Amino acid sequence: MEALEETLLSPEMIAARVRELGAEITRDYQGKELLIIGILKGALPFMADLIREIKLPLKYDLMAVSSYGASTKTSGAVQILKDIEMGIEGEHVLVVEDIIDTGLTLNYLVGNLRSRKPASLKVCTLLDKPSRREVEITPEYNGFVIPDRFVVGYGLDYAERYRNLPMIGVLKPEVYENG
Ligand code: IMP
Ligand code: MG
Repeated sequence: MEALEETLLSPEMIAARVRELGAEITRDYQGKELLIIGILKGALPFMADLIREIKLPLKYDLMAVSSYGASTKTSGAVQILKDIEMGIEGEHVLVVEDIIDTGLTLNYLVGNLRSRKPASLKVCTLLDKPSRREVEITPEYNGFVIPDRFVVGYGLDYAERYRNLPMIGVLKPEVYENG
């Protein structure tokens, strides 16, 4: 892909890891019914692939939050743009995220969802950038730990673009410069 300086994760690497995560979740939730909450928009491709690797009865819903503008740095302010439509009291909830960076978004979300009294609440993220963490939050399921670089593809965007790339990679610096 010509906008990328480097590919960090190929489609094959992503698919293999998603299969492993699905198998792990399937084992851990044996005998239970899951409620997956996907966080729009970034988690959409990951969630779509992951749910088909989970061999359990499940429901899913979607939530949209915003903590970023068209920028590569977080503002820290979290806003619920779209809430889930289902009640989650007594449900086994698994939040599916694209990436945990500072942790501010997920920290807010987990607090908000916990107050709705689910039976259990865990987090599955595709990517984790632990070096940038500002609040303590550790996902129960994590696809890949990545270095502190701004990545795009497989749902992740820069200014709403590149979400459709099948791989995950680092943009060329000139992409930012040309805005
Ligand atoms: P946090 O609140 O700093 O953990 O940010 C989480 C959100 O920021 C993610 O859901 C992404 O939408 C966005 N984000 C963080 N790092 C990246 C990145 O490297 N590429 C694209 N989006 C990112
Ligand atoms: Mg984003």
